[in-house]
Amino acid sequence: MLRGRHFVEPGNFSIAETDGLFDLASKIEEDGNYLRESCRGKVLATLFFEPSTRTRLSFEAAMLRLGGNCLGFAEPGSSSASKGESLADTVRTVACYADIMVMRNPKEGAALLASRYSEVPVVNAGDGGHHHPTQTLTDLLTIKRLRGNLEGLTVGFCGDLKFGRTVHSLAKALARYPGVKLVFISPPELSVPDYIITGVLKRENIPYTETDSLEKVIAGLDVLYMTRVQRERFFNEEDYIRLKDSYILNREKMALARENLIVLHPLPRVNEISREVDADPRAVYFKQAKYGMYVRMALLASLLGVVSC
Ligand code: CP
Repeated sequence: MLRGRHFVEPGNFSIAETDGLFDLASKIEEDGNYLRESCRGKVLATLFFEPSTRTRLSFEAAMLRLGGNCLGFAEPGSSSASKGESLADTVRTVACYADIMVMRNPKEGAALLASRYSEVPVVNAGDGGHHHPTQTLTDLLTIKRLRGNLEGLTVGFCGDLKFGRTVHSLAKALARYPGVKLVFISPPELSVPDYIITGVLKRENIPYTETDSLEKVIAGLDVLYMTRVQRERFFNEEDYIRLKDSYILNREKMALARENLIVLHPLPRVNEISREVDADPRAVYFKQAKYGMYVRMALLASLLGVVSC
């Protein structure tokens, strides 16, 4: 049962619980009336200490479609955090007003801390370069719906694998599925952190390779997960400018890939996928954004206990 639980990182839910959310999300996708009004009278608080388009708006759309209401802030300057209030006090206060809260914060570990002070479920909408578990639900659901399964896939991650929290969460989650192989494509300065390599992949004996060449590996991929270079996490603008266009997926590179490849991107995109690729049926990143709303509807309904999952 997910009722009343926090969701700080993908490993908080078992594979069976995650599958239950995917089943619910698929029912919602197929039947626009399923769970409609099930959250009437419930309040979602969105606490965004960093910018967001998809995560905040898809959560708010999810709650509104379930019949509930939303309140919150989209940047910390309009909250009392700007007056020096601690995160613990903010969370304790918001838990007095809302039935569930979704929080994005630039500090790694902020969601875990919030979960220790909140009397209502806390959902991590991104904590610094650490985790983004509801993006992972979105990514896994997209792969499952469009490839048919999550087992036995070769998944390539390309771009900023150092700061990209969506990469860390998804790699950790995929490591739980049999037969998965991971290919990390990045400049050496932006390679995937050791806590994922040593702490997850080596420990679980998950096959992986690291390369700096997308062209060399794209033909062997079932899924390509593109990411932007995370400007906001660089200490030095010169390094960002040097690395920002390390990879640009274009028509020529897509011509090297399999017919049944799917290209995901958590978005926002900057330059790393040429606009010309959008028309390729293998480019599924806007479908992915829509799956994000369905799976967040399933998550809210489950954590609030209006449906059993
Ligand atoms: N994928 C994602 O987290 O997008 P936003 O930053 O727009 O929420």
